[in-house]
Amino acid sequence: MPEKLAVFGGPKAAPTDPQALIAWPLITREDEEAVLEVLRSGNMSGTDITKRFEQEFGAWLGMPHCLAHCNGTAALQAAMFACELGVGDELLCPSMTYWASSLQTYALGATPVFVDIHPDTLCIDPAGIERWISPRTRAIMAVHYAGYPCDMDAILPIAEKHNLKVIEDVSHAHGTLYKGRKVGTFGHVAAMSCMSAKSFAASELGMLATRDQYLYERAIAYGHYERHDDLTDPRLTPFAGYPLGGVKFRANQLASALGRSQLRQYDARVAEIQRAMNYFWDRLEGVPGIQAHRPPKDSGSTMGGWYAAKGLYRAEALGGLAIERFCEAVRAEGADTSPGANKPMHIHPVLNGCDIYGHGKPTRIANSDRDVRQAPESLPVALNSYNLCFSIPWFKRCDTAIIDEQAAAFRKVAENAGQLL
Ligand SMILES: Cc1ncc(COP(=O)(O)O)c(C=O)c1O
Repeated sequence: MPEKLAVFGGPKAAPTDPQALIAWPLITREDEEAVLEVLRSGNMSGTDITKRFEQEFGAWLGMPHCLAHCNGTAALQAAMFACELGVGDELLCPSMTYWASSLQTYALGATPVFVDIHPDTLCIDPAGIERWISPRTRAIMAVHYAGYPCDMDAILPIAEKHNLKVIEDVSHAHGTLYKGRKVGTFGHVAAMSCMSAKSFAASELGMLATRDQYLYERAIAYGHYERHDDLTDPRLTPFAGYPLGGVKFRANQLASALGRSQLRQYDARVAEIQRAMNYFWDRLEGVPGIQAHRPPKDSGSTMGGWYAAKGLYRAEALGGLAIERFCEAVRAEGADTSPGANKPMHIHPVLNGCDIYGHGKPTRIANSDRDVRQAPESLPVALNSYNLCFSIPWFKRCDTAIIDEQAAAFRKVAENAGQLL
């Protein structure tokens, strides 16, 4: 029995406002007290609280060395430097991600080279990596996109074969498991944003994690001059005192204190988010044209805190219905959604025509010994990503009555898509 869609004046499938389940970050009295204590002591620029946070975070993640940064962008830049990405080098990175997975290469004299994404995972497609490897490739950036773990079993052997470092960008995936093990523990080094919108939210903060003592010390040497007493490697100790990057990447201790108290609450929150988000997708199993963006249930892999949660859109199953029209109709039913995710980076002018440092040619070319610019169609999935996925409500609490309504909004539009054609 066809139902009249709300865009055509029918009754809304999701009349209840879901905002109470969506609100984020959650700040408790414990968080406030932790921050106030630092504020009252005036100890914002120290490192003692930050070091405690690093230890606790490392114990949670399962990594011996953690180094907090003022934000995720800085932590990723330090990770790139740690991996010896330098003048003329290339970093392989998925085209569809936030710019800070790769753009800091420019500041190191290097450049990103983009790789296509897989249409089901929205992460780097391992089958597309080797095509872009050159003698100047130094590292692969594995971005666990929108909570989904990258296919590390495929990526790691490629890196090993070509002697490349693997950097994990865990900004979307704190607590995500890949085959039973936390992401951020697979590569040579991991770095992540912990800014307020992320599933692990510690205001403005970034974290770097590694098992490798030398990489850890390189990251310290790069942006943490006040911690140079921790350097032991003779390749670095002669330069102690000045940050090699000429940058100051220390975390603000207000953020570190918040990070400590958020960490204590994090696993319970992730468990609740997972209950809610899996419940949402379980309600939509088998609905035409839309699919869950989550690993198979029996894989041991999870979506962590489901940051920036997405659904996969398959227009061909809905008679070719344009994703904009689909999303517009879902919004009219009372659930928030919009098409696409991060725009493909390889077509952006900053990666093609921008001379940032006055080389007299685009930085992307100046920082390489060849023209690494990539034709739009050379990464077809990323190029078309706007039509492949849509945002879904990010539930932090599992109120099944409200989630039933929200899921009904998506189901009603998908099952009545014919009305929109
Ligand atoms: C994938 C990814 N990497 C890096 C960053 C940069 O982190 P920050 O904003 O903390 O600098 C973000 C987002 O903020 C991100 O989404």
